[in-house]
Amino acid sequence: MTVDGRDPDIFKQFFAVKDAVRREELEFPVGLGLEEARVLMTGDHSDLRADGLALVDRDTWLGIAWLDWWLLDNTDTVDVEFAVDPAYRRRGVASRLLEAVIERARAEGRRMLTGINVAGDPVTGESSGTAFASARGFVRKHAELHQVIELPLSEEQLAAVERPVPGYEIVQWGEHTPDEWIDQFAELITGMYADVPHGDRTVEATQWTPELVREAEARRVAQGRFTYTTAAVHTDSGALAAYTQMGGTPERPERLNQYDTYVHPPHRGRRLGIAVKLPNLRSLQSRLTQSAVLHTWNAPENTPMIAVNEKLGFRPTAQRTAWERRL
Ligand SMILES: CC(C)(COP(=O)(O)OP(=O)(O)OC[C@H]1O[C@@H](n2cnc3c(N)ncnc32)[C@H](O)[C@@H]1OP(=O)(O)O)[C@@H](O)C(=O)NCCC(=O)NCCS
Repeated sequence: MTVDGRDPDIFKQFFAVKDAVRREELEFPVGLGLEEARVLMTGDHSDLRADGLALVDRDTWLGIAWLDWWLLDNTDTVDVEFAVDPAYRRRGVASRLLEAVIERARAEGRRMLTGINVAGDPVTGESSGTAFASARGFVRKHAELHQVIELPLSEEQLAAVERPVPGYEIVQWGEHTPDEWIDQFAELITGMYADVPHGDRTVEATQWTPELVREAEARRVAQGRFTYTTAAVHTDSGALAAYTQMGGTPERPERLNQYDTYVHPPHRGRRLGIAVKLPNLRSLQSRLTQSAVLHTWNAPENTPMIAVNEKLGFRPTAQRTAWERRL
């Protein structure tokens, strides 16, 4: 069946399958919360449309496929996540869903399926998801290491890696980028998406505009998310040189995410990555009312970032793999 995300009962059952599989597969069941996911599936967004398919036997939901249809870039691609109830695996459930996804994707003129399986052994990367993807014609394109650390970090831990960078000032904001930075910030995010290691993935980088930044901010607020941004401004030129973002949702206070960290190329090599991360971490920690785990993902080849994280005390918990299949 095609899932109508606007029907609250259907959406709840659909989400329950996806969420239960993540809880079963992962030490830390990362992923969208119910309300975050609902906003994606029911709202109107410039950059994507999300919908889904499910295989249901009478009242039993055997498995689901969540689909992201990109609308601004990668418009020949559909991103898919499969989740099958462990009680019904190895009976062709995901294979049947895949056939239905391919049929829909082709009918809408899409030429490629992509997917990321988030559960994978931290060393080998292998899981049921990688076995399924290889068996069904997907090609392995990239890996990312998932690292975690328990918060709060002590002032001593933070001070051990902190070095002030002369010539730059730190600015911070919450849900809304100040108007004075919005143009430069859109350029920095564009750079981040273009430069982040993609391995062999076929990725068309998004050209961010101030309007898209504002739309992403409004969507996060609608999803109930909170976000902390810290940026470094080059004092002499007034250029926004680096930024980092972290956040979470009140729905899952024990889980916080490290989102982007980016240093504009002319300003690299001065440890600005740490210079923005640490004040951001301090601000994030200041709102904690319980211990929490901070999550981050980096390509294994992104050694400087992983080294910084290890220095702070992050440990690996899983390795996820990005896949592509041409249609
Ligand atoms: C991956 C997953 C969706 C597969 O669902 P499924 O319904 O069991 O898959 P199918 O029965 O259609 O399997 C098709 C083929 O994939 C391969 N395969 C699937 N799971 C496998 C496993 N655990 N070990 C080895 N091979 C496997 C086999 O070749 C299988 O054919 P066979 O059973 O005839 O040998 C399911 O295990 C799952 O939900 N895993 C957790 C979430 C995930 O990793 N999702 C994929 C990322 S998007």
